[in-house]
Amino acid sequence: MLAERALTAVMRPLSRWYTSHEPVEDAQIPAPAAGKTYLLYAHVPFCERLCTYCSFNRFLFNEDIAMRYFADLREEMRIAAGLGYRFGSLYVGGGTPTILVDELCQTIDLARELFHIREVSAETSPNQIGPELAERLEGRVDRMSVGVQSFDDKLLRQMDRREKYGSGKELFEIISNSRDLFHSLNVDMIFNFPSQTETMLRRDAKLLKETGCNQSTFYPLMASPGQKSALSSQIGRVDMTREKRFYDVIDEEMGHGFEHSSAWTWSKEKGGMIDEYIVDYPEYLGIGSGAQSFLGGRLYTNTFSLNAYAERVHAGRLSVTQRGKQYTQRDMMRYRFVTDLFGLRLDKRRFIADFGTTVERGLWGEIQFMRAVGGFDRDDDECLTLTRTGRYLLVVMMREMLTGSNRLRDEARAALPADERALLLEGAPVDVVQGLAS
Ligand SMILES: C[S@@+](CC[C@H](N)C(=O)[O-])C[C@H]1O[C@@H](n2cnc3c(N)ncnc32)[C@H](O)[C@@H]1O
Ligand code: SF4
Repeated sequence: MLAERALTAVMRPLSRWYTSHEPVEDAQIPAPAAGKTYLLYAHVPFCERLCTYCSFNRFLFNEDIAMRYFADLREEMRIAAGLGYRFGSLYVGGGTPTILVDELCQTIDLARELFHIREVSAETSPNQIGPELAERLEGRVDRMSVGVQSFDDKLLRQMDRREKYGSGKELFEIISNSRDLFHSLNVDMIFNFPSQTETMLRRDAKLLKETGCNQSTFYPLMASPGQKSALSSQIGRVDMTREKRFYDVIDEEMGHGFEHSSAWTWSKEKGGMIDEYIVDYPEYLGIGSGAQSFLGGRLYTNTFSLNAYAERVHAGRLSVTQRGKQYTQRDMMRYRFVTDLFGLRLDKRRFIADFGTTVERGLWGEIQFMRAVGGFDRDDDECLTLTRTGRYLLVVMMREMLTGSNRLRDEARAALPADERALLLEGAPVDVVQGLAS
């Protein structure tokens, strides 16, 4: 699709600029604004197995290291509270936050003690979800998000998930049996895997609906720049020319029974949290290794090193070690354009109230582009909404924004000390892991 190619070509350097960071010894984050509540993001970077395609900040699980980490995460939460931050929602992401469920419970309980938390969302893996987990998290987690990726055994094998998380048939049963265990259950899927066909994708969407889950997020496969060649040799080259067609297939299938909650999320009911919390929370604070914050028009990133993380928190400091560019008014308008439209609706009056100009004047080029390609459905005095083409173009914009963050993660991984880098590999040498854990 021509519009996709043009947009990707423009977005790539832009997102590189928007996500570029500089190291800082003591990044002073802005003081919280009076009366404002933020979202608190807490990162748990441990997994029992490292999936081939995964671009997130995650290490191979070691119980001692993870126990210490959770204690430090709670300490960092207390530091944030001490700075006067107040949070209305908590998102615990990973990695696999449920990997030590007692620790997760203590962490959520502390957040509820310190702040007036209305809503908690957490992520898990298919081998951990079930009645036992639901019982422990009852009254603690409102929305659970679980990664399935596909019900196709060939794809699951390529992702290195078949053995650890189960076959397509087993995953179907796991999700079907978990559908009523949480107030809301989101299932993550991936599309545009090199060996995936349209038939496989249609089957995935059909099976997904049959499980009875009430929300699903379909991510386009995003190869992080540093992983691209390794990923290519393991699973094949990602063909971007198929992405739009695959998106249309999902949209057609999910259109029966589900509605969009964002450009790549479909839900049975309107409202509620989605994985991309940046849509509902313009400002958020991230705690934990590698987590990001967006405050006062600037991105901040925490150290990825587990040792450096512990050191900073023990010294009573937040773990922020890098900060991004200060966004100008125009950058903030663009940020609003992408996050609001990714959430399906841009309120033109709110835009004028916040920026003192119309979206047409502030973002002339962006508006003309979207109009020319038929991206808008409603385009009146009140708001902008999207056609299917428009939603797909928002997927492209979000994909490029996340690819910018992936670049940052690649660089951070490369800069880790050798002993910590060992935890990025399956079968890390036992003596190295013991050294880190002691
Ligand atoms: C950070 S994971 C946490 C969920 C959990 N660990 C699991 O895998 O079951 C959240 C989701 O991100 C998506 N994801 C990770 N890496 C991706 C990539 N390179 N491209 C597209 N989606 C990706 C997967 O769908 C995954 O379920
Ligand atoms: S996809 Fe989930 S389980 Fe796999 S490595 Fe990434 S965070 Fe861990």
